[in-house]
Amino acid sequence: MTPILKLKHLNKAFGAITVADAMSYEVHPGEALGVIGPNGAGKTSMFNLITGTLRSNSGSIEFDGQNVSKWSAARRSHAGVARSFQVPQPFSGMTVFENAMIAATQSAGLHGQKAERHCLEVLEQTELLPKANVLAGSLTLLERKRLELTRALCAKPRLLLLDEIAGGLTEAECQSLVQTIKDIHASGVTIIWIEHVVHALLAVVDRLIVIDFGKKIAEGEPHAIMDSAAVKEIYLGIEADA
Ligand SMILES: Nc1ncnc2c1ncn2[C@@H]1O[C@H](COP(=O)(O)OP(=O)(O)OP(=O)(O)O)[C@@H](O)[C@H]1O
Ligand SMILES: [Mg+2]
Repeated sequence: MTPILKLKHLNKAFGAITVADAMSYEVHPGEALGVIGPNGAGKTSMFNLITGTLRSNSGSIEFDGQNVSKWSAARRSHAGVARSFQVPQPFSGMTVFENAMIAATQSAGLHGQKAERHCLEVLEQTELLPKANVLAGSLTLLERKRLELTRALCAKPRLLLLDEIAGGLTEAECQSLVQTIKDIHASGVTIIWIEHVVHALLAVVDRLIVIDFGKKIAEGEPHAIMDSAAVKEIYLGIEADA
């Protein structure tokens, strides 16, 4: 089976800071891959490289068998790559529905009733339908996280990149968001999820990679990776769920 995403020896540095160091891995269609690593390890930068807002110094990125390394962010988005942002970035002065429509029209290329229907379906899936006409700026943190998911899903992604979407939530809120992400995964969307809230991640992902200083230092079955010496060393003195 052709991997939906293939990173081949990706390198990126900001001066002395290396955010991708010969980063290579594959993600298969329908898979949910978890990503952990300390603050500043290069996790968000990796998403920026995948979505095309950041260019690598060397190496390549294949999406669905095509080398997309030179593609613009817009072209990758049209091809089916969507993300949520670590810090939610809604248009605060617009309603939830209007935010969804922007993603559906600009990223998925839908128009009119087709776009509206798609947004309503996604809002139902993300449990934000009752808030459709509320201004995004007045949402709670959980609702803003759900709006991030909504905007990403309205783009009709084949590959969904989630950047610390569970951070800052209460345990009950986290569980409800995990259920929504499980449902999205079950509907066939391939997911890469960066998360510090490890128990949320472990409830969903099939495989885990660990990144430190831009380098992949471990990869494999999630529970085995969490028990590995490499992870214990990185998180020595740091609570994984902190
Ligand atoms: N555009 C940029 N220019 C210069 N340095 C940058 C840029 N983007 C990120 N960095 C630096 O690269 C390093 C990795 O940042 P990145 O945001 O990828 O880390 P992260 O693993 O997502 O961390 P966190 O867990 O805190 O979100 C950090 O030291 C950051 O300051
Ligand atoms: Mg980050």
